[in-house]
Amino acid sequence: MKNREIVALTDKYVARTYARAPIALVKGRGVKVWDADGKEYLDFLAGIAVNNLGHCHPAIVRAIRRQSQKLLHVSNLYHIQPQSELARELCRHSFADRAFFCNSGAEANEAAIKLARRYGQEKLGGKYEVISTHNSFHGRTLATLTATGQEKVRAGYDPLPEGFRQVPYNDLGALEAAIDEKKTVGVMVEPIQAEGGVVVAAEAYLRGLRAICDQRGLLLIFDEVQTGMGRTGKLFGYEHFGIEPDIMTLAKALGGGLPLGAMLAREDVANSFGPGSHASTFGGNPVSCSAGLAVMSTLLKGGVLKNGAQMGKYFVKSLEALKKRFSFIREVRGKGLIIGVELEIDGSKIAEACMAEGLLMNCTAYRVLRFVPPLTIKRHEIDRGLAILEKVFARQ
Ligand SMILES: Cc1ncc(COP(=O)(O)O)c(C=O)c1O
Repeated sequence: MKNREIVALTDKYVARTYARAPIALVKGRGVKVWDADGKEYLDFLAGIAVNNLGHCHPAIVRAIRRQSQKLLHVSNLYHIQPQSELARELCRHSFADRAFFCNSGAEANEAAIKLARRYGQEKLGGKYEVISTHNSFHGRTLATLTATGQEKVRAGYDPLPEGFRQVPYNDLGALEAAIDEKKTVGVMVEPIQAEGGVVVAAEAYLRGLRAICDQRGLLLIFDEVQTGMGRTGKLFGYEHFGIEPDIMTLAKALGGGLPLGAMLAREDVANSFGPGSHASTFGGNPVSCSAGLAVMSTLLKGGVLKNGAQMGKYFVKSLEALKKRFSFIREVRGKGLIIGVELEIDGSKIAEACMAEGLLMNCTAYRVLRFVPPLTIKRHEIDRGLAILEKVFARQ
């Protein structure tokens, strides 16, 4: 099928929840993807920070192939070796002692909220309220969209669940003022607000959050669904800030392209979940977890994190050079290979024009171009993408 036929099928039969570009991607390798008409693109969006090792990385494909020939699925009523091993690897390389597996970022955050509530009931006399931040994004389930600080995500879903409140990001005073001694159980933040326009937390803010949570006995929950798994140049985003959360959520790149989410917690917190308190049929599926193990070992052994950090610096420096030439670029920001370019003009038109020229990225928060290419990207590939961007900028 060609692009046109696939687009027509989608338009006729698929629920209208996405504003899609009029192409269907059918093949990918590294940083390149091809559409159904055979056109090649440089993919600087990588499935929105999912394909951190590029498309169809051989180690991930091998792991999926091997596991799928042995066992595709069993229930969590039995032990699942790749799941136990992935939990061990995630705990070994983070602050956490235990992992709960699910299938998406929203579910990982839902698990975090549920764990916080049980912890509040067991240890904090029934506290349940989670404070999050304006402009955050935590998912599309009823609880996670209520935690999300964006009106457009919540519109039309009233009545929303109780127990959520938002305060401005990077504002410790506002957070302290919002804490309710009787209700607040924890604080949920992204170390970098990704969907909110690639807004990086100030180090003093995250350290301050840790200190407030320690003083008040609250749980600090980091949503690392987008910043985790090497995206920022370190395995987890929090490592940049010299502090640790009590709970962390992961998804996106964790399964190397297969659906996999995880909620990690320290032992004393994780213990508030017991048998029957939470579950997911597919959570920790053997094939997804085998892919996750391949992602972990490739990220940790292959110099990929270092490459991501170096290429991120190079990318930002090159974008800063463009900023000097194009006055409508307001700011270039990010960490590692999650980079935002805030414009004074409509970013979606730029993203569309880049796609026509063979470069994929997207616009978030209306005016921010978001670049989240594979962490394996090479300097000459960044140069090629930037040449396209420059050409499109020059037409504005
Ligand atoms: C920080 C963050 N949290 C949660 C989510 C929701 O993840 P999912 O779409 O897998 O439910 C996203 C998705 O963009 C995200 O960026």
